Amino acid sequence: MQQETLFGHPKGLFVLFFTELWERFSFYGMRAILVLYLTALTTADNPGLGWTSKEALALYGWYGMFVYFMGIFGGAIADKWLGQKKSVIVGGVFIILGQFALTVHNMAMFYTGLVLIVCGVGLLKPNISTMVGGLYPKGDGRRDAGFTLFYIGINIGALAAPLLVGYYGENVSWHLGFSLAGFGMIAGQIVFVFGGKYLKNVGNLLKHSETESHLASQPLTKIEKDRVVVLLLSFLIVIVFWAAYEQAGGLMNLYARDKVDRLVGGFEIPTSWFQSLHAFYVVLIGAPMAWLWLKWGNMGKESSAIFKMAVGMIIMSISFLALMGAVYDASVNMLGKAPIYWLLFSYLLHVVAELSISPVSLSFITKLAPAKYASLMMGSYFAIVGIGNKAAGMLGEAAQDAGEMYIFGVIAAACLIVGFLLFFLVKKLKALTHGAEEVTPEVVLAEQE
Ligand code: PHE
Repeated sequence: MQQETLFGHPKGLFVLFFTELWERFSFYGMRAILVLYLTALTTADNPGLGWTSKEALALYGWYGMFVYFMGIFGGAIADKWLGQKKSVIVGGVFIILGQFALTVHNMAMFYTGLVLIVCGVGLLKPNISTMVGGLYPKGDGRRDAGFTLFYIGINIGALAAPLLVGYYGENVSWHLGFSLAGFGMIAGQIVFVFGGKYLKNVGNLLKHSETESHLASQPLTKIEKDRVVVLLLSFLIVIVFWAAYEQAGGLMNLYARDKVDRLVGGFEIPTSWFQSLHAFYVVLIGAPMAWLWLKWGNMGKESSAIFKMAVGMIIMSISFLALMGAVYDASVNMLGKAPIYWLLFSYLLHVVAELSISPVSLSFITKLAPAKYASLMMGSYFAIVGIGNKAAGMLGEAAQDAGEMYIFGVIAAACLIVGFLLFFLVKKLKALTHGAEEVTPEVVLAEQE
């Protein structure tokens, strides 16, 4: 089929881009004020729920885990019953209902809202990601770039949300903040439904005739099994990456608040602003990074997903070495606080690593997963991100006793080890993908056998 294109990509990509932009606006907006709402006093002008910080952080940790962990179920539901497209719509409705439930000042409604959002994101997020892959035929070289574009959309939403939802939530009312998050998701839903005409051929439930030849009766082929093994191995790596990356909202956040000199030209940069840095950097360097990788590949150099992940892990390791530099600097300088550039530099490296790992993994999954488990594999990846989030929280807690230097050091070492391991395994793992990333006529033929 011939798809209509825009900027060289299928038009459907832009429908998914804007839907996910708004979904992330809703998600990150709500997340930006969740802990603040929980801990605000019940007697304040803008009353919250009056929880202690510890209670609030615990809920935040579990929420962060479940909201992605549900992806497994969201993926399975899409594969078996709904198809990805309908799952996105149902997920979007859940999220809208959830955000508006949070606007009601009542505990039962609060928990109902959280559960609805967890289920909604679980249904929507992995499935819309799989749909991006579905826009490109096998072997289409634009797929990786498509995922990077999609990733930039995600981060435009993530960048704007804390500023808007955060501002109105904190300064006017929490409930207005949650409503804005709800309206964000409504906007996403409208884009998705009205853009449906560009998505006719993606995200539909595979017909029985298309899957029956595989189902039960026929187990996965050797090639399919090998590819699943590579995916599962890459998922293990991804846990380490997200456990490191998500320090940003926890340990690095507190570190920035207490131990970094945030005064710049007489103005003290608010700690929360650092929470927009990741998204800001992605929007800033997403396109140039995609271009660099493309050029690197075109020069005939190794540019498989596994190789990019290895590079990403090493860069992540360097970012934590930079944080160790900050801790050391703070211990020897007169101020007793770390200069801000360590943190800015570390966040930048986080994002260089993220762009080498995260959109690459999404694209890789859509190339390697067997068709009948496409959504489930994507959902499992999100579950892994959820576990990484929880592990990040636990590392942050451990740092309260062990100290930052030690924990930053452990993370740097773990990323370095995983990175080198991947370098050594690139050839072996690539062989196990059976050319899924190249898709030459020989590969297509071998798959059919
Ligand atoms: N910033 C990314 C996003 O919100 C983080 C993420 C990547 C979350 C992959 C889940 C899976 O999409």
